[in-house]
Amino acid sequence: MLPALLHAFSKPTSENFKTLVRSEGVRVWDENGKEYIDGLGGLWYCQVGHSRPELIDAITEQLKKLSSYHTFAPMGSDVSDAAAERIRSVSPFPDGRVFLCCSGSESVDSAIKLLRKVPILKKQPERQIILRRGRGYHGVNIGGTTMQGIPANREGWGDLLPNVIEIDPTNIEDAASIFVEHGDRIAGVVTEPVQGAGGVFPPEPGYLEGLRRLCDDHQALLVFDEVITGFGRTGNWFASDTYEVKPDLITFAKGVTSGYQPLGGVIINRKVCDVLESDPDFTFMHGYTYSGHPAASAAAIANINIIEDEGLVQRSKEIGDRIFRGLEALREDGVVSEVRGVGAIWAAQVANASTEQGLEIRDKMTEMGVICRAINGALAFCPPLVIEENDIDLIIDTAAKAIEEVIVK
Ligand SMILES: Cc1ncc(COP(=O)(O)O)c(C=O)c1O
Repeated sequence: MLPALLHAFSKPTSENFKTLVRSEGVRVWDENGKEYIDGLGGLWYCQVGHSRPELIDAITEQLKKLSSYHTFAPMGSDVSDAAAERIRSVSPFPDGRVFLCCSGSESVDSAIKLLRKVPILKKQPERQIILRRGRGYHGVNIGGTTMQGIPANREGWGDLLPNVIEIDPTNIEDAASIFVEHGDRIAGVVTEPVQGAGGVFPPEPGYLEGLRRLCDDHQALLVFDEVITGFGRTGNWFASDTYEVKPDLITFAKGVTSGYQPLGGVIINRKVCDVLESDPDFTFMHGYTYSGHPAASAAAIANINIIEDEGLVQRSKEIGDRIFRGLEALREDGVVSEVRGVGAIWAAQVANASTEQGLEIRDKMTEMGVICRAINGALAFCPPLVIEENDIDLIIDTAAKAIEEVIVK
């Protein structure tokens, strides 16, 4: 009989998994005591490093005080209020509001429901179309699955949400022509400012600005899915700051707690809040049992405090510079054909590598004690923002050796 756990994004018949048992800082250990550098920060989430006592203590103390409570009317908790305030305090929307849920996928589905709700409240129910972007990843709930620009993640589940149109990931003219055709029926656009799981693609110059302009011209809303890019990853608190483009809604998860607790949410700008608050009889019929869970809320506050106290937002640029320089050297050697990234999220397209060879290189690196992600022949890196120079160099050297073994031989 196969083990009980059905792993994420895996073959149900597969039994070949690494079993991790311990973590500390930028390192994790498996059941055989083998040590790995976590070059991907878990799954793009671990900003402050693993197993930090301050964070664990904050969560434990909270659980001792109030172990759980929900935020369905008329209830709430001091710590969920404080977490929302703290998230808002570092966000681009100082007068906005924060909805809390438990994952990136829930944050995306919540944003999609807001994209539907706002036009309805504004008496424009015909605005039902949502634009997604090719190559985008937006989680696995039914809304996020529909928003996927990665066909393999979207297809094979039967009918998804109607009224969704895909735009080209790089050419803004494609979006412009869809707005010309459907502008008065478009509710909004959902995009990652830096496409992460699709292969780490920063936006083409002018692309995000173009989306903002199109949305403004056609009264549509712009959603930035900052589930990976939020909380310091791109060298600012949010990629919205890095690219100086303000969306209307920001979805977040992952780095908000560095993965210590499952938490996600949507930061809502004042313009959208005004619509939600305009009718005192309107009830927001949306929320999850664990929206604002005390342990997750405490984790967010402690995590944001660590990011701020240790200057990790700034540190992310220094980490990125070193990764970039290392990968650029491999590009100059000809083993890498393209280096992409911003802040502390980078990818190196291995020259002439197939998707399978990319996976082989990843496996070789894991054998050598470095965890990264392989995406379509590229290697992606997103280390904790507490990584030191020698460990960054070790990641790059290991990538070079693994590429040599698999491709050059
Ligand atoms: C941009 C983006 N949105 C949404 C998600 C989904 O987040 P979760 O896996 O927490 O549901 C992810 C996960 O990688 C993501 O990268």
